[in-house]
Amino acid sequence: MGKIISLLNHKGGVGKTTSAINIGAGLVELGKKVLLIDLDPQANLSLSLGIPRQPNTIYEALRGESELEPYTIRENLDVVMSTLDLSGAEMELINEAGREYILKELFEPIKDEYDFIIIDCPPSLGLLTLNALGSSDYVYIPLQTQFLALQGLAKIKQVIDKVKFRLNKNLEIGGVIATMYDSRKILNRDVVETIKKYFGEKVFETLIRDNVSLAEAPSQRQDIFNYNRNSIGAQDYMNLCEEILQRIEAEGK
Ligand SMILES: Nc1ncnc2c1ncn2[C@@H]1O[C@H](COP(=O)(O)OP(=O)(O)O)[C@@H](O)[C@H]1O
Ligand SMILES: [Mg+2]
Repeated sequence: MGKIISLLNHKGGVGKTTSAINIGAGLVELGKKVLLIDLDPQANLSLSLGIPRQPNTIYEALRGESELEPYTIRENLDVVMSTLDLSGAEMELINEAGREYILKELFEPIKDEYDFIIIDCPPSLGLLTLNALGSSDYVYIPLQTQFLALQGLAKIKQVIDKVKFRLNKNLEIGGVIATMYDSRKILNRDVVETIKKYFGEKVFETLIRDNVSLAEAPSQRQDIFNYNRNSIGAQDYMNLCEEILQRIEAEGK
């Protein structure tokens, strides 16, 4: 059955969107069928992949005006896009009964069509993020290997624990992804050690290195495998995807 993964960190610029796109594309390379969900009103994921404006986006679906209507980027890779309209959803849905479960319901009819559904969360811990967590099997937390990487993490953990207790018993921290790693910088190495002390085994062995191709690919509306499959960025995300599959298989959840 399909696994649902949320990329979460309420800080911006830590590699959520880059990881959502390239984990998704990497899993497709490994023969999986993937649906990407852009749940950020900034719509960086949709823009980075050059998705043409769809009549119905994640916003219309959350408002109950449409089903989820995935757009096919290429074989085995679909996306439900976002637009700035989504920024209104948190307020508009505030009085809706079962408002934390809207996304989960939307996934019901389609989730078995995919091996993975990957959700790119907004940089906040509001209703959109609660919907992501309420529907997910796993949360992955990308952390930039910089000073203050762990700042605010207690809050994320608290939210995840509450969601697990109240909304979704199935939810687990599936992994922590160290991003934008530069091995030449002692600080980066120290931060990885600190992250490992805090999260232990949850931290993926694969470090996502700082790599210019990862930053350039969105300007060409491509994932890293289409943009430059020989880059370090493509290697790192491929290794991460292999680790993800091994980990999920080992858990047998
Ligand atoms: N490993 C990396 N190496 C170089 N640049 C990166 C890397 N990961 C992300 N970036 C760049 O850093 C910026 C923030 O990344 P992004 O994935 O958009 O973060 P978030 O979604 O958490 O806000 C983007 O410009 C992105 O292209
Ligand atoms: Mg983002």
